[in-house]
Amino acid sequence: MRFREEWLSAVVRVPYVPTLGAVHPDAIGAILFDAIASVAGTGQFLPYDKDARWLAAKDEQVITGEVIHAPGLTVIPALNTRGQGTLKVYHYGHDRPDMGQVAEWAAKWRATYGTRSARVIWTQDQAAGARTRLMLKNYTPSDQQPRELRITDLDTCPAASTFPAFAAEMAADGFAFLYEQVQLGTVTGPILVALDEDGIVGAVGPLSVMTDAIGQRTVPPQYFAVHPGYRRKGYGRALWRASTTRGEAMGAAYKVLNAQVGAAAERFYESEGLTTLGYVCIHEISG
Ligand SMILES: CC(C)(COP(=O)(O)OP(=O)(O)OC[C@H]1O[C@@H](n2cnc3c(N)ncnc32)[C@H](O)[C@@H]1OP(=O)(O)O)[C@@H](O)C(=O)NCCC(=O)NCCS
Repeated sequence: MRFREEWLSAVVRVPYVPTLGAVHPDAIGAILFDAIASVAGTGQFLPYDKDARWLAAKDEQVITGEVIHAPGLTVIPALNTRGQGTLKVYHYGHDRPDMGQVAEWAAKWRATYGTRSARVIWTQDQAAGARTRLMLKNYTPSDQQPRELRITDLDTCPAASTFPAFAAEMAADGFAFLYEQVQLGTVTGPILVALDEDGIVGAVGPLSVMTDAIGQRTVPPQYFAVHPGYRRKGYGRALWRASTTRGEAMGAAYKVLNAQVGAAAERFYESEGLTTLGYVCIHEISG
């Protein structure tokens, strides 16, 4: 199958796409959707897939034979093989998904493809009921300010021995996983850390730059957190700004990210002046 530009452009208004997640708004179009469908069933990554950093094979595939593509409605089911397996139904339409209709499709696809859970994912331009807020940071040389707090590379950090304890305490924010990857030697980009007298109290990384679907240089998702005992003291801002300065020096033009609606990070990115691209909603389908 091939996607039609005019049908997609009428309903995909927020740049969040099957299997890849958040992308640059200019990347949205039939070429990208066709590319996503072209690797379905192969386990291969598109060259601009951020998941290729951590996984040996792509774990989410579009079910190309079941795609619904019509004027005013595009529905793309995908299978995610992580854990017990999840059916993800990406819904792009003029209105919110008709949950009754989606539940019927999901029941049929779950039975056919044998997944335990199912969810429908759609986007909108308001926050009400949304799970995450899609935000864009354009990297520009002019917007950085001097940082007084101590930010350094983990590699050259005098308190690097405190990183394992920090990582363990910050497991919920992905740092235990990141530390595991550091030990395995799979982390290629630098990790920046914030230092207090007690050692490492915050971190962001790994920092890398990759080329997106339209040839622009972007910074893929990073782990980023400040220890709860040290928040609201400016460490987050100092780390973020150090990482954007570094990203810009590495040639990045932008970064897109998902901030959880209502979380401190959403307020934080707002305070840093990021542009809102839209909101992503997720509804678990029971049954
Ligand atoms: C997001 C996070 C890194 C911010 O770190 P931090 O060190 O507390 O941030 P800062 O002290 O530099 O705060 C900078 C500004 O962000 C905003 N902000 C940060 N936390 C906020 C909160 N809980 N409520 C409202 N505004 C907040 C404020 O504008 C703040 O400036 P102010 O303190 O002068 O008002 C931290 O809350 C955290 O680790 N959260 C959990 C992990 C996470 O969500 N990471 C981001 C993944 S996308």
